[in-house]
Amino acid sequence: MSKIIIAIDGYSSCGKSTTAKKAAASMGYSYIDTGAMYRAVTLYFIQNHVSLSNSKEVETALNNITIEFRINAVGQNQTYLNGLNVEDEIRKLYVADKVSEVSAIAAVRHAMVDQQRKMGKKKGFVMDGRDIGTVVFPDAELKIFMTADPFIRAHRRQIELMTKGEVLDLEDILENIKKRDVIDTTRTESPLKKAEDAVVIDTTFMTLDEQVDQVILMADMVVLKKWKA
Ligand code: DC
Repeated sequence: MSKIIIAIDGYSSCGKSTTAKKAAASMGYSYIDTGAMYRAVTLYFIQNHVSLSNSKEVETALNNITIEFRINAVGQNQTYLNGLNVEDEIRKLYVADKVSEVSAIAAVRHAMVDQQRKMGKKKGFVMDGRDIGTVVFPDAELKIFMTADPFIRAHRRQIELMTKGEVLDLEDILENIKKRDVIDTTRTESPLKKAEDAVVIDTTFMTLDEQVDQVILMADMVVLKKWKA
């Protein structure tokens, strides 16, 4: 049966990446984490003191950035920035604190969207982000918009960070999440919004397995309908 494009958009920390990763693995699809791309750009900008208001500096920096995904020995997706594994570094709070600001820059978005479209030339992938169903792949066969209560999202992020050795106050994480929601949904350049034809999944009271099962079931239905048509 033919493979499809699955676009998962939604707020930060509502389970998009983990769900997308697991659903992709069990369907034999690849997984593309576009948030990791914006995080890698942010890390580069921080490390190289790129002034966000200087369009020349931003343009030069973007020309010097190569982002790739490689699978490690245990099958995990790892983000590489200019040949270096930055998977752990880009998840840290100092990067999260700046990423929404960086991803609101038009030049940054154009560069990333271009790269994402190239990565998605062959169907059979799950891509998660903020603008996948609206801008990057508006023709995706299955579009999902994920949401969850901000407090639950902060709590989930706290646990995730704790497993990586970062102990942070719930209030600080909640603050960061709320700030990112505002920037992500109000920026002029492709703001986070539900595509008209996206299905909403509210993960507040769902387990990860339930989220994954729901995505797989919906994808199966889309594939079946396509096959019957
Ligand atoms: O999914 P994430 O939390 O790792 O994403 C990090 C940030 O990147 C998020 O605050 C908004 C931005 N982002 C975006 O603007 N567009 C995307 N397609 C993916 C992420």
